[in-house]
Amino acid sequence: MSPETLSHFGLNQEPFSKEIDDADLWLPPSKHAVLDELTDAVHARKSAVLTGEPGAGKTCLLRALRHALKADTFRLTYCHNVTLGRRDFYRQLCLALGVPRGATAGDVFLSVSTHVEELAKERVFPVFLVDEAHLLHQDTLDHLHILLNYAWDSRALLSLLLVGLPDLDDRLRLRRNRSLYSRLHHRVSIGSLTADDTADYVRMRVTRAGGPKDLFAPDAVAMLHEAAAGSLRDTDRIATAALRLAVRRKRKTIERELLARVLHAEGIAT
Ligand SMILES: Nc1ncnc2c1ncn2[C@@H]1O[C@H](COP(=O)(O)OP(=O)(O)OP(=O)(O)O)[C@@H](O)[C@H]1O
Ligand SMILES: [Mg+2]
Repeated sequence: MSPETLSHFGLNQEPFSKEIDDADLWLPPSKHAVLDELTDAVHARKSAVLTGEPGAGKTCLLRALRHALKADTFRLTYCHNVTLGRRDFYRQLCLALGVPRGATAGDVFLSVSTHVEELAKERVFPVFLVDEAHLLHQDTLDHLHILLNYAWDSRALLSLLLVGLPDLDDRLRLRRNRSLYSRLHHRVSIGSLTADDTADYVRMRVTRAGGPKDLFAPDAVAMLHEAAAGSLRDTDRIATAALRLAVRRKRKTIERELLARVLHAEGIAT
């Protein structure tokens, strides 16, 4: 967003950017409930699956979790490239953990599990966050539950958090994946936003960027809510496009009519 656009609205930073500090994430009661459940899971060293539609805020919730957990007790490892076979998946994990990678699938698995046991002796508990987990290769999925077994499956040394689209839940429910699914004690999904949520979100992001809380008129926000259908990423994109158009039309606020033009230009029916 150009400096001219920002100054037109009295903003000191881009309001709908993805570059938001962990501490500044928007956490309405519905998201707080999910965050609390994940935090409880990790404290109990249980594993969890978190699902939601694209742009619903799953990865941002992981960031809120990172912020909520004590860095000296929990070692978070974020795995983002899951489209790898089993051996490469574990190699990536080794790399993230800073442990030797080994050559065979057995070696890399041993490196990871030995590291987890060593951390436990120091009372540090790893949390493996596997984002976009609906894309995991089946051979990786087949093996993941073994990573959760320590001392004859009698010790909980790490938490595995699988995060992905709702398809992930369907996949995990398949008979083939039941060993893993039965170890995912917490199964959480991010529900759809209410219209009030969207209004709260837009207001929060605008005011955090130094703008006026009524920059978006209530009926424009209602329209934005319908158009974005619960995706915060779409909300960001449409709201940003509306701000740009408002500058071109020399408007200081976003009214319903201006938003309708943005949606029309994007081919979104209103
Ligand atoms: N809690 C939040 N606070 C502030 N902004 C948020 C929050 N959640 C989501 N957003 C905004 O929405 C965008 C999309 O969120 P996020 O990347 O977390 O979605 P996602 O569910 O992980 O989507 P995908 O399935 O496509 O990966 C973020 O870049 C951010 O701008
Ligand atoms: Mg994501």
